[in-house]
Amino acid sequence: MAPTRSASAVSSSQEISLAEAHERYRLKRPKSATADDEARKVMPGGNTRSVLHFDPFPFRVATAEGPHLVDVDGNQYVDLLGNYTAGLLGHSPTAVRQAVSAALETGFSLGATHPVEIEAARLLTERFPSLEQVRFTNSGTEANLMALALAKHHTGRERILAFRNGYHGGVLAFAPDSSPMNVPHDFLVIPFNDLDATRDAFLANPGEIAAVIVEPVQGGGGCIPAAPGFLAGLRQLCDQSETLLIFDEVMTSRLAPGGAQELMSVLPDLTTLGKYLAGGLTFGAFGGRADLLAAFDPQAGGALSQAGTFNNNILSMTAVVATLTEVLTAEVIRTVNERGDRLRESLNEIFEANHCRFQATGIGSMVAIHAEEPALELFFHAMLDDGWYLARRGFIALSLEISDELIDGFLAAVQAWASQRH
Ligand SMILES: Cc1ncc(COP(=O)(O)O)c(C=O)c1O
Repeated sequence: MAPTRSASAVSSSQEISLAEAHERYRLKRPKSATADDEARKVMPGGNTRSVLHFDPFPFRVATAEGPHLVDVDGNQYVDLLGNYTAGLLGHSPTAVRQAVSAALETGFSLGATHPVEIEAARLLTERFPSLEQVRFTNSGTEANLMALALAKHHTGRERILAFRNGYHGGVLAFAPDSSPMNVPHDFLVIPFNDLDATRDAFLANPGEIAAVIVEPVQGGGGCIPAAPGFLAGLRQLCDQSETLLIFDEVMTSRLAPGGAQELMSVLPDLTTLGKYLAGGLTFGAFGGRADLLAAFDPQAGGALSQAGTFNNNILSMTAVVATLTEVLTAEVIRTVNERGDRLRESLNEIFEANHCRFQATGIGSMVAIHAEEPALELFFHAMLDDGWYLARRGFIALSLEISDELIDGFLAAVQAWASQRH
């Protein structure tokens, strides 16, 4: 009988491989290493967006063009991460750049209303089926905060139902558990895709739940789609209890022209948006039923007021209009999501054929690769070494710049990595 290697031998050999991978990474990136030393002096851990850190230190980008990132040491990567879905249009999409350049010429720090915000709002309300009216914010986090505040105001209730592994922003994070950074709402956190647990929560809290907030596909939680019937079940439970259903479509609105709500045929009361919709510039929005949004109507007394110096900033508003009128046709959305489906299916075929304990999940252009640690980190570094950039946690969000040929190239790299392991 062939000798079996003990678990500790396997893990210590993986740890050696990881140390070697870090060393290889370091040697190719002396300028990024120096920049990291400088960054650490002025930002904790050299970081100001936690998710961008990875060991031993992240490379620093010098230029970004087409599908590529080039770091300060001259290493080039194909950008499969697509700024965690915000980069759907690529790094500097021509239509957005031209529209924003024109806006820069006509003045951009206004402190006044302007026509472009009306056009942006009109385009969004026409696009997403549940949006009768919309308001703008600066981020997806803020959009969710506003939607929750509106739900509490409307219902006069305090409790919010959220799902384990859900992510709605840095202060609304349940992945895997509630973050100590979370805002102090009265959250009840239950398992995702568990309609029985949701029903039980409603039964145990009669007339107390203001809102259910859910991602139609959990993004940060590992690209896990809502199970068939789950969203429809939530819709029904909310209707029975006069609870508002909030779809966080900050990521998932890219999955179909009308977002996941169109794809999955369930309409929420409120929807939150963000990420790619301003072509890569800062953006957030929340909207839904006009009778709910009326709480913000200053002409009707305005029970609620939503401040925000940059809510209607003309650069983001202009970028939304360019994105929706010039780039994101139904055909473009369909193509990028079909590419994602092909990528995920092919990855799983490679993993299975090579007996890798890896799995790809998601829908369309949102893909997550799952594996135990340190196998996932080793994979991440192997791909970086070969010029493919994805999130350290295995997340991929395809941009329009990622062609079929690049998908094939990545699959070939994964295939080569998988066959070397065995
Ligand atoms: C589903 C979801 N909601 C909300 C947010 C927060 O958006 P932002 O980072 O723009 O605040 C994110 C960010 O990753 C997200 O994935």
